[in-house]
Amino acid sequence: MALFDCTCDATSGHARALTYQTAHGPFRTPMFMPVGTSATVKGVMPSQLRDLGAQVVLANTYHLSQRPGAELVAAAGGIHSFMAYDGPMLTDSGGFQIFSLADTRKLDDDGVSFRSIYDGAKVRWTPEDNMRIQELIGADIAMQLDQCPPYPATREFVERAVDLSSAWARRCLAAHARPDQTLFGIVQGGMHLDLRLESVRRLRAIEEESLAAGGRRFGGFGIGGYSVGEEHDVMFETLGQVARACPADRPRYLMGVGNPTTLVRAVREGVDMFDCVLPTRTARMGTAFSSTGRMNLRNAKYKDDFGPLDAACACPTCQTHSRAYLRHLVKQDEMLGAILLSVHNLHFLIDLMARAREAVLADAYEEFYAAWMAGPGAKDY
Ligand code: GUN
Ligand code: ZN
Repeated sequence: MALFDCTCDATSGHARALTYQTAHGPFRTPMFMPVGTSATVKGVMPSQLRDLGAQVVLANTYHLSQRPGAELVAAAGGIHSFMAYDGPMLTDSGGFQIFSLADTRKLDDDGVSFRSIYDGAKVRWTPEDNMRIQELIGADIAMQLDQCPPYPATREFVERAVDLSSAWARRCLAAHARPDQTLFGIVQGGMHLDLRLESVRRLRAIEEESLAAGGRRFGGFGIGGYSVGEEHDVMFETLGQVARACPADRPRYLMGVGNPTTLVRAVREGVDMFDCVLPTRTARMGTAFSSTGRMNLRNAKYKDDFGPLDAACACPTCQTHSRAYLRHLVKQDEMLGAILLSVHNLHFLIDLMARAREAVLADAYEEFYAAWMAGPGAKDY
């Protein structure tokens, strides 16, 4: 397979099983990607990520550009050598962080100015600056700079976010040059189907224009701006049509979504890739995903429960440690509690998507979906 080739191994209804080639090896979908914002998946050693079956690991351009700085990551030989992870990696552009973290930011047609959450320093990014920073960091996949509107927002506000994100998509694609890295566009449009479809249409037109001029195309399509506070069913009113409006020959990546049931439902709508801090963030709060639904390890009922965390799970935590021990660690705020639950939660989502892939390959996704939805784990959105 040539670099950035994408093959469709099977479909089952709208669900797909893709293989995508990066400079650090292939990844296979459907797939959940652990989030390592600051070049660390909190609490998990890079060597463990491979053992857990992680394929692509995320990092964030906003955080890394501030600390330790993109130049320093480049001086280390790029993000893979810096964190000693030699599998595929993806950097989010930081657009989302500018709009969710910074309280002072100013948008204009040419770019965005904001204050760093680290030291309050003024930072200004044009789309071209953002591409240069992501090329310095050196992940296999870069994301365009975009504007994610909050929810609720007025239609006019969302329209302007689509306009701006489209204009930035064009400039990012024109500026992006690193040959061993690909760039994904990002669809916005809030909960408005017509704006979402217009956003997809513009991304497709931008790459047509780029190809005609001898330029590059998008390596895949991010679907941003969901899971921003809307009721979970609201996303599914438009997600399927939006995903399937994206080209069928490349991955569709639903950004920032990590609830097990949402993943199972979104794959059925034609989505291929997911990322979320949920498994590691909730682990640090003492919460575990499980085949029977979410568990809060602080609960007294686990005090003398010497059984495994989840009897149906093959992860190192469940193979080795009891609920009673995990509860003790969590109650005492021992760092090992957060680590062991992070390992389990990541394994849970990675394995769920690996089983989804098996179901697609067997053309039995509908059965997989029905079994999940009828099971005890489905109640957690
Ligand atoms: N992560 C979750 N949602 C988004 C989004 O809309 N844009 C970007 N860049 N990242 C995200
Ligand atoms: Zn486990």
